[in-house]
Amino acid sequence: MAATIIDGKVLAAEVKAVAARDAAALKEQGISPKLVVFLVGENPASAVYVRGKAKDCAECGIDSIVETLPETTTEADLLARIVAMNADPTVHGILVQLPLPGHIEEKKVIEAIDPKKDVDGFTPVNIGRLQIGEDCFVPCTPAGALYMIQAAGVQLAGKDAVVVGRSNIVGKPMAMLLVAQSATVTVCHSKTQNLAAKCAAADVLIAAAGQEKLITANMVKPGAVVIDVGMNKNADGKLCGDVDFEPVSQVAGAITPVPGGVGLMTRAMLMANTIKAAQWVLQAQK
Ligand code: GUN
Repeated sequence: MAATIIDGKVLAAEVKAVAARDAAALKEQGISPKLVVFLVGENPASAVYVRGKAKDCAECGIDSIVETLPETTTEADLLARIVAMNADPTVHGILVQLPLPGHIEEKKVIEAIDPKKDVDGFTPVNIGRLQIGEDCFVPCTPAGALYMIQAAGVQLAGKDAVVVGRSNIVGKPMAMLLVAQSATVTVCHSKTQNLAAKCAAADVLIAAAGQEKLITANMVKPGAVVIDVGMNKNADGKLCGDVDFEPVSQVAGAITPVPGGVGLMTRAMLMANTIKAAQWVLQAQK
C-alpha cells in the first residue's frame, strides 16, 4: 500500500494561520511584530529564500525589513548592523541568511544576535536551552519536521528514530527534539557503518544529509514515517530530496514530498518564532 503523503502545503498554511491570528492579537495590544532579515552578497538561492520569507511575513501580518548588503560588506559593518537591530525595540526577530561571503565569520555573526531575537535558534544560548529542555527558539527546519511527524499522528515515545545528518542547523537539533519526545534516537553521518541496516530499523527516519536518493526502499522499514529534509538539485536542475521518493513511498507508512514538504514548514516556523519573540516582549511589559 502506498504511503500517506504528509502535505507541507496544508500544514504550513495551518501554522501560518495561527501566526496571522496571533499577529493581529499582538497589534491590538500595541505590538506590531517585526522581522529583520540580512542578505549579504549575491547568492541567488539565498535571494530566493529571503523573498519567500518577506512574502510569508506579508501574508501573516508581520512587518519585515530585508537589509540587502553588498558582497564587499565587512564583518565589522555587519556586526554593527546586528548590534543596532538588537537595540531597536521595534524589531522582534533577526535573521542573517546563510551562507555568508567567505571573509565573514558566520560563528561571530550568529553569536552577535540577541538570543531573545534569534528566531533561527542558531545562537549558543538557544541551542543550550534546547538541550536542557528550556523554553527557547527551536531552529525552524527541525521544528517543522517535528510538526509534520506529530500531524501524521505518530506517538514518538518509545519509538526508534534515526536521523541521517549531524548539522548544527538540522541533524543535531532534530535529535534533541526527538529525545525530548522520548524517542530512542540514533544519529547517522558520513562515517556511519551499515547505514542501510540502521535506517531499516527506524520507526521514524529523518533524512537530512543533502544527498540525492541516499535513502532507498531497502533502507526503510515497512510502515515507517519518512521525513525528507533534503534540498538537492537533480541532473535536470529540479529540486529533490534525499529520499528516492517513488520506491520508498511503496514501503513507508507516511512520507513527506520534496518539493511541498519540509521546506514549506521551515518558512512557516519562522513566522511562528517571530510571533513568539514579539509575545515575549509583551509578557515582559506586563
Ligand atoms: N540558509 C539555509 N537555511 C537557512 C536557515 O534556516 N536560516 C538561515 N539564516 N540561513 C539559511
